[in-house]
Amino acid sequence: MTAFQAHLDLGLGESAQLRRSPGTRLPRRSSGGAPGGAVYTQGWVVGLILDLAGYRADQDLAARYVVEPSAGRGAFLVPMIRRLLESLAAQGRSLDEARESIRAYELDADSARHAVDLAVRELQKHGASTKEARLLAEGWIRVGDYLLTSPGDRRADFVVGNPPYIRYDEIPVEALTAYRSLYPAMVGRGDIYVGFIEAGLRQLDDHGVLGFICADRWMRSAYGSELRRMISAVFGVETIIEMHDAPAFEDEVSAYPAVVIIRRGPQGRVIVASADAGAGPVDDGGTLADSLIALADGRLDALHGFTATTAEHWFRGAGPWPSLEPRQLSLLQLLEERFGPLEDDLTGTKIGIGVATGADRVFITKDPGVAEPDRMVPLAMTADTRQGVLQWSGHYVIDPWKKGGGLVDLDAYPRLRAYFEQRRTELQRRNVAQRAPKAWYRTIDPVHHDLTGRQKLYFPDMKLVSHPVLDRGETYPHHNLYYLTSRVWDLEVLGGLLLSRIAQLFIEAYCVRMRGGTLRFQAQYLRRIRVPDPASLPEELRERLRLAFWSRDADAATRAAVEAYGVADMAGVVGC
Ligand SMILES: C[S@@+](CC[C@H](N)C(=O)[O-])C[C@H]1O[C@@H](n2cnc3c(N)ncnc32)[C@H](O)[C@@H]1O
Repeated sequence: MTAFQAHLDLGLGESAQLRRSPGTRLPRRSSGGAPGGAVYTQGWVVGLILDLAGYRADQDLAARYVVEPSAGRGAFLVPMIRRLLESLAAQGRSLDEARESIRAYELDADSARHAVDLAVRELQKHGASTKEARLLAEGWIRVGDYLLTSPGDRRADFVVGNPPYIRYDEIPVEALTAYRSLYPAMVGRGDIYVGFIEAGLRQLDDHGVLGFICADRWMRSAYGSELRRMISAVFGVETIIEMHDAPAFEDEVSAYPAVVIIRRGPQGRVIVASADAGAGPVDDGGTLADSLIALADGRLDALHGFTATTAEHWFRGAGPWPSLEPRQLSLLQLLEERFGPLEDDLTGTKIGIGVATGADRVFITKDPGVAEPDRMVPLAMTADTRQGVLQWSGHYVIDPWKKGGGLVDLDAYPRLRAYFEQRRTELQRRNVAQRAPKAWYRTIDPVHHDLTGRQKLYFPDMKLVSHPVLDRGETYPHHNLYYLTSRVWDLEVLGGLLLSRIAQLFIEAYCVRMRGGTLRFQAQYLRRIRVPDPASLPEELRERLRLAFWSRDADAATRAAVEAYGVADMAGVVGC
């Protein structure tokens, strides 16, 4: 039996039959332990999600349909049942009227059996007979694959839970193929939870709400782009709570989770919050959800373990959703509303990356005599930018390109020819040479000759803080350096702006910090930076930006940038 047959055998056609197929192989978490990407949710997080989604006991819950797509050992299911039972009592309804009000899926039969036992216990506490309780619980809980089964299920008012964490390369190929045929947003190397979010959203009735806690990588990664596009087109994001450091799960796992509440309906205001290690239930008699909403609205000054704000709108299309502290996000949204992008035709500002050769050992040298002088281009490397001013280390890139494109004829360059011929085998081994054998001596990227003589700012890729460095038109960038040229900007003034923590905020928002806090200053992130119109900056401010740039004073640069962007009232957000 293949892994997929086992998966199907367990997942389909056995609805209420709680037994485990002997051949079943569910991927296990690396720590061993629970099956099928299971990470169990803490009760206070479950309560928060149910409240935010609106699954509250004061509603007529028997008349609503709530779905738990991956019930595990009942972390959501049991509180859902308690709320339902409370609601039945308040509404004067009988237990029988709740027969169709809950559906929980679980692929792992042992977990499902455990969930049924818990449900039975809850029902018995409510006065149900053992037989009645078992009948109801087994009707609610299905052993099955939610992703394959839910398209045949009813539209739901709520889909809530904590979907499994199974990496793309751990999902059996046949299962992945079946999932992808049903869920077009499962693109790239996405985790299985992307499919769960899409399936949950698809199952929602009009105005229905999805409330999940799951990893938040999809909000920024390429594999989440189709999901973001789908959400932006049809749904409204209501709440996002970043929970990377919060004690959200029973085990300590580095899952980088967030709570998301998304409704099938138009986009409105969004609660954006962040929970830290001190987050937990409130003990003032109210609910954590209500306190959090009050904090975001400004009706509550502080809430232990949380920061929160309200965003007036959310990000459109397939573009990444930023990851920032709530107050930083407000500043970012304001800047994005008021200012245009750094890369812009009007100011002739362009961002690019330096040359990749595919064989740096051959193409990069400190010996200026290896080829004819016009083939030797001074090359700026990351280390040359370390001090904040460009200190050329004497490296050259050996340039095989003609002005205007195409490779030079080696017959016209005897020294170049001799040098390349001696290293021909190494050059020919590169993919780029194998794809075009006649161009065996090309660098991967062409060298754009006019770039060398232009003033430009360099950005080393990996840095803890923004680190623009001016080149006065003396070197060509190596591929770990990104560069910016501009027709209109004075690059010393712009350098000051880009040194500021306001510019850095854009990078922090869209590039997930690497371990140790390193940021990536790649073109895709630099292009996210918004800047004021250069003509709008008074000379006195320009001078301060220049000075800050040359003295590498990020504080002074940030103070000047706060004025340049006109955001003095939010200066505290960037530490001014
Ligand atoms: C992260 S755990 C969450 C359990 C529970 N909702 C909680 O919050 O504690 C995910 C559960 O999904 C189950 N699972 C994995 N793949 C599934 C699938 N395709 N359909 C339904 N359940 C699945 C796993 O067996 C596991 O119990």
